[in-house]
Amino acid sequence: MALAPAFDDSIAVPTHVAIIMDGNGRWARARGLPRIAGHRQGAEAVRSTVRACSDLGISYLTIYAFSSENWKRPASEVDDLMGLLRLYIRRELVDLGREGVRIRFIGDRSRLDTDINRLISESEQSTMNNKGLIFTVALNYGGRQEILEAARVFAQNVRDGKHEAGDMDEQLFESYLQSKDMPDPDLLIRTSGEQRLSNFLLWQSAYTEFLFTATLWPDFTREHLEQAVHEYQRRERRYGGSGD
Ligand code: IPE
Ligand code: IPE
Ligand code: MG
Repeated sequence: MALAPAFDDSIAVPTHVAIIMDGNGRWARARGLPRIAGHRQGAEAVRSTVRACSDLGISYLTIYAFSSENWKRPASEVDDLMGLLRLYIRRELVDLGREGVRIRFIGDRSRLDTDINRLISESEQSTMNNKGLIFTVALNYGGRQEILEAARVFAQNVRDGKHEAGDMDEQLFESYLQSKDMPDPDLLIRTSGEQRLSNFLLWQSAYTEFLFTATLWPDFTREHLEQAVHEYQRRERRYGGSGD
């Protein structure tokens, strides 16, 4: 990416930024390092991005840390990623808590190790009263799986007489999603040059602005974020209207 212009603070920043952090493996390969080295450096980029979002006045940051499809990777890489997650939560938690960040997780927890589930719950509980950035980590998350689970629970509720099938509308459906407490992302950034959603926030990104950058995730800095916000501020969002 070129040198970042300062972002325009006279125009609203996005309320919710979502990031598909991609390119850790390629970052490592380019340096002749194992993939885990890329993931480690990627965790540093998460650290600085969380701070940068808070500083810019962004209210929600959601990052894609591990997709439901990432289990297809070799067991050794999955283990490395889970190990890094354990370290990250333990190391960051105290700092994030002190900085007022509220941490949350979305995704299917049933396949995660017990100790990871415990760390996740602890970090959510210990930061739940914080008033700063709402930082959501998508872990073993898949957009289709989230939608299917919502449909399953709704069907069960209809069977139990809690709803009529005809009650279903967008608002009710959203109340069944894991993202129910947050607004849809305004801006979605994907690093590493790939231009796809890879099963991230399918329902929620219906009117999200997408920004793709060739920068690999471990190289992503505050300046890149500012540049992305600046680009977002120049976009015209129409939501199907005529733009007049
Ligand atoms: C993103 O980097 C991190 C995760 C998906 C967990 P990758 O590991 O996908 O890196 P590339 O795409 O192979 O470069
Ligand atoms: C998407 O990246 C998932 C995460 C960033 C966690 P991938 O690297 O797994 O996506 P594909 O396989 O290139 O679509
Ligand atoms: Mg990738």
